[in-house]
Amino acid sequence: MSEQKYLVTSALPYANGALHLGHLAGAYLPADIYVRYLRLMGRDVVWVCGSDEHGAAITIRAKKEGISPQEIIDKYHTLNKETFERLGISFDYYHRTSAPLHHATAQDFFKKLIDKGGELEERSSEQYYDEEYGQFLADRYIMGECPNCANPEAYGDQCERCGATLSPMELKNPKSMMSGATPVLRETSHWYFRLDKHGDWLREWIKTGKLDGQQLHDPQTWKKQVVGQCLSWLDDGEGLQPRSITRDLDWGIPVPLPGAEGKVLYVWFDAPIGYISSTKQWALDNGKNWEDYWKNPDTQLIHFIGKDNIVFHCIIFPAMLRAYGGYNLPVNVPANQFLNFEGEKFSKSKGWGLEQHEYLEEFKDFPNAEDALRWALTRNMPESSDSDFKWDLFVDFHDKDLADNLGNFVNRVVVLSHKYFDGAIPEPTGADRDKLVEALRLAQAFSGELEAFNFKNAAQYLMELSSLGNTYLQDTSPWALWKQDPQHPGIRECLYVCQQIAALLALLADPFLPFTAPRIRRLLGQPPAVNGELKTALDTLARNESLLPPGSAIGQPEVLFPKIMDRNDKSRLEIIERQKSKLSAFMLPEQKMEQPPLETRNSKLETTEVKPDITYEDFAKLDLRTATITAAEPVKGADKLLQLNVDLGYEQRTVVSGIALHFKPEAIIGQKVVLVANLAPRKLRGVMSQGMILMAEDATGKLSFVSPPADAGNGLEVK
Ligand code: MF3
Ligand code: ZN
Repeated sequence: MSEQKYLVTSALPYANGALHLGHLAGAYLPADIYVRYLRLMGRDVVWVCGSDEHGAAITIRAKKEGISPQEIIDKYHTLNKETFERLGISFDYYHRTSAPLHHATAQDFFKKLIDKGGELEERSSEQYYDEEYGQFLADRYIMGECPNCANPEAYGDQCERCGATLSPMELKNPKSMMSGATPVLRETSHWYFRLDKHGDWLREWIKTGKLDGQQLHDPQTWKKQVVGQCLSWLDDGEGLQPRSITRDLDWGIPVPLPGAEGKVLYVWFDAPIGYISSTKQWALDNGKNWEDYWKNPDTQLIHFIGKDNIVFHCIIFPAMLRAYGGYNLPVNVPANQFLNFEGEKFSKSKGWGLEQHEYLEEFKDFPNAEDALRWALTRNMPESSDSDFKWDLFVDFHDKDLADNLGNFVNRVVVLSHKYFDGAIPEPTGADRDKLVEALRLAQAFSGELEAFNFKNAAQYLMELSSLGNTYLQDTSPWALWKQDPQHPGIRECLYVCQQIAALLALLADPFLPFTAPRIRRLLGQPPAVNGELKTALDTLARNESLLPPGSAIGQPEVLFPKIMDRNDKSRLEIIERQKSKLSAFMLPEQKMEQPPLETRNSKLETTEVKPDITYEDFAKLDLRTATITAAEPVKGADKLLQLNVDLGYEQRTVVSGIALHFKPEAIIGQKVVLVANLAPRKLRGVMSQGMILMAEDATGKLSFVSPPADAGNGLEVK
């Protein structure tokens, strides 16, 4: 039997946009933690990912921006790849599905299924065709009225207002998004994958882990939601249906058959094959054999994804792999649920949320920002239910876990080692050996949780190990022993034990905090950890030997995580506050009409909420200016917002204001206003808003402009 190997994949992100924190927490951060852990345990693991560069979403985006699909994918492939690297996401290979190697791999897959017979079938059907544009229309390219909620802007596959799943035939008044023309029905033919033939073994395999009399995985180790979603799909009414795997499009992988000009493979057929081509490219570059990772039964295939991709990874792709033959099936698909952002879904169109690269930009002056984010997302990972990213939690996790617990312990160990032993490793007396036995047990429990994809539990054990160190240090109080007798053997023992715990902490922290862990090791006089280092350390501790070789010299103390809530230095808190204020500026207009019913509004106003005092400096930060509204128009898809042009005298601005329910656009042209001119720009429904107009609100919620006299010029300072 050959050595056990791992092939880990993370969902290939579409290269038509930046990724937000929810993506990171869903499919990339947990995989990174897992893979870093496996490497530290000395396991043979390859982790592949890459850009998903086909599909209608990319061509629509390109059309909207008036550039080619190639420009779109080049831009976002590069952005996403670089952003992942900056966050310490350590893929072994980040490929792209536009690469020739991928095209060839996907085409080979298709041809093999044709040649086998019985897996693919050609069928004709009527589809919408745009006569002006000269093309069949993908579902996403058709817009019309939702049969369910009458939304006039529903897409051919889904209504984004009511969430209904649609087919283009159901839309009333369908329009082509390519030309605006009314599409006509035309006959076309496509290839269908006979998924219906695979239902029986899939059901058995998912329920029991058994296939062809072999136990391939233990279904108890799969998440309940994953198994549940699969079974409900498999048992849904008519059971599995043949699925069309080609499209009439000009962007994608050409169908490799004579006479199939103008047809491409459906993006969800080619994308998961991207895992295979990514592995092939990695193997070529590293002198390895890709088949060892895909076809050797000793290799464990694990897919990290978000819950919206479960069916593709647990049913359709496994069926494709088995239809082709010779491939492993996944031993686990630890799909995550969704992360929300301050109580709402991330939404690009609403401008709600934070993208990965935006975080890095906004937090560029925040010490150790990458690990701070990774930690907050780990502590709050949507492992078994949806969770909510909140800045207040970010602060708590940072200050309580990283600063007060982990950072503080490491710092005290370093400082005391210098104070009592000139930064050397003292000889243990063996008196407190049981503390190290406890530490080892925590580390083993930590391992067990990671092997089972329980990232939050593992993070909790990491904190418990650090607490063990802190409590032990406090209980032993070597500083008190020092006062009794600087030669007290208890001091030696205590510092020795604490140094061992710190060394172990550095290793357990490594998968979670890859930027901090090497710093801790440097403080302990050690080079960065190598593959297998955790395994070695656990064995060393079990033999009751030292993790720090003789001669290691403790480095100079440094603060790993300066606290956010620091009375004397508000710089970090200001970075957080800036994020929060962007949110409240954003929420104001939306909240106004959506939530509070009139009575609660009134009563709230009657008890007139008085805000706490601010200093003159706080007030002086505002740049208030007189201005005139020169143009006003509704914002598409947001019935409460108006987009305004505002003349500031020294410049023209665009401002998005939540006043559409109160004023008609044409009625406010020429209106004199006061503008908060230095409010950080903020995107609202895709429009960059550069400032905020002051309004007075009465007890019924009626708004009026705070208006300078008619003869006041524009751009005057209001003080
Ligand atoms: N691009 C898809 C998404 O973002 C995921 C593709 S995963 C793969 O939802 F398996 F198809 F690669
Ligand atoms: Zn609808």
